[in-house]
Amino acid sequence: MFNQKNKVTRADYEQWRAGQDETAARIASDPDRLLFHVEPELGWLNDPNGLVQIGDTYHIYHQYDPFDAAHGGPVLWNHLTTKDFVTYENHGPVLFPDSDLDSSGAYSGSAFVRDGKIHYFYTGNVKHFDRDDYDYVLTGREQNQIHVVAENPDELGEKRIAVGPVDYPDDIGTHVRDPKILEHDGIYYMVLGARTKDDRGCVLVYTSRNLEDWSYATRIELGEKFGFMWECPGYLELEADGGVPAKWLSFSPQGLEGGRWDRGNVYAAGYMPVTGDITGGDSAYDLGEFHLWDAGFDFYAPQEFASEDGRHILIGWMGMPDADYGNAPTVAHGWQHCFTVPRLLTKGENGTLLQTPVPELDARRSAAALTLRNGEEASLSPCFDLTAAPAGDFALTVAHGVELVYTEQDSTCVLQFTDPAQASGRTQRRTKLSAPCRSVRVVGDRSSLEIFLNDGAAVFSTRYYPAAGDVAVKISGTDALVYSL
Ligand code: FRU
Repeated sequence: MFNQKNKVTRADYEQWRAGQDETAARIASDPDRLLFHVEPELGWLNDPNGLVQIGDTYHIYHQYDPFDAAHGGPVLWNHLTTKDFVTYENHGPVLFPDSDLDSSGAYSGSAFVRDGKIHYFYTGNVKHFDRDDYDYVLTGREQNQIHVVAENPDELGEKRIAVGPVDYPDDIGTHVRDPKILEHDGIYYMVLGARTKDDRGCVLVYTSRNLEDWSYATRIELGEKFGFMWECPGYLELEADGGVPAKWLSFSPQGLEGGRWDRGNVYAAGYMPVTGDITGGDSAYDLGEFHLWDAGFDFYAPQEFASEDGRHILIGWMGMPDADYGNAPTVAHGWQHCFTVPRLLTKGENGTLLQTPVPELDARRSAAALTLRNGEEASLSPCFDLTAAPAGDFALTVAHGVELVYTEQDSTCVLQFTDPAQASGRTQRRTKLSAPCRSVRVVGDRSSLEIFLNDGAAVFSTRYYPAAGDVAVKISGTDALVYSL
């Protein structure tokens, strides 16, 4: 009924939603529903948008197709809030593809607070359907970067084009999206993911002094082709030793090929350390090695934001578009995908970033912890938090169907499914650590596992589908401490 060919207004949505109470109740009782992760009330969720703290409240938006768990419909922005990153209040959709600027979807973007007002920037996706020979890469599509100012995060104001197709360099095709705003010395920067006409991913940078008028500044790219499209760019600075900030560019490249990319996910999400100035100043810049944010099956298009107390927090979409595996059990119930737990970012070794669950999550830990001895198996709550400090090889099995195996000899960690019923098509992922594995933390939330190795130097995120109820967890090679969450 709803598709990208027609606009969707708030009234259309509300009329449709009025008939969905039964479906929503059925979804809410699915045993695969998560306890402390963001997930959609109905249908499909994709990447996090507009992450921002206002007062004591974190505002979280996400790409949302409530109409279809397999994402056949258009995307809206749904709004949630949290004060503790553990319980979330769902406020429902706030941004609809209801205008000529965004008629085929209110795509991803960000939020920026200035002088008490929230400035949202997102991509209005417009597809044309008057001909049947459009490829929607070079023809038949426009992507507008739209600016909306709001005083109330539940009521977004008038939509105006901040940067549109006339502002893109001539060699850029129709794919330009996911604006993220930064401020530096009184100048605002907008980074945009883009695809050149000859299929090279890059980031376009626009600048503004007032958030209204934008001009093209520069392009961030690599000498060698690195994928055909870079989605959801972000730029992050952390105070480092001696007051010199350490800097990173984050993006989600599509179309990486060859070598390790052929054994990994269909699309990647990662970051590169930056030296110099990527914002279009006079100095040159250099991009270092590309590090995956997460080596698991389900991680894409993350967004980072700074909290008022100066923490840098990353939230990823625990999903993967166009993958050859999926989430059949939840789709059958009418919903799909979730976010990762919010992750605190700190500086690691050699241009890397460490990710650890925000400490707020510790508040869910049970008073008493259980010690799981080397070689022992225990039946645990499916919401658990396990930590271990291995000194060499170790293996961990969850629900008899998912294994994490670490081999000290080559510092390699493998995540593999041994029970197809739990995998929904997932097979194996591996990562080589840059140092021997000396810490493991596994956060389980019913149908999700997030595994943090070496204090978050490497992470695996995956969905999995164990039978409802407690899960068997077995560790060998080391003891572990387990809390239920
Ligand atoms: C990332 C993404 C973004 C886009 C949005 C559309 O998964 O493809 O680039 O804005 O999803 O829903």
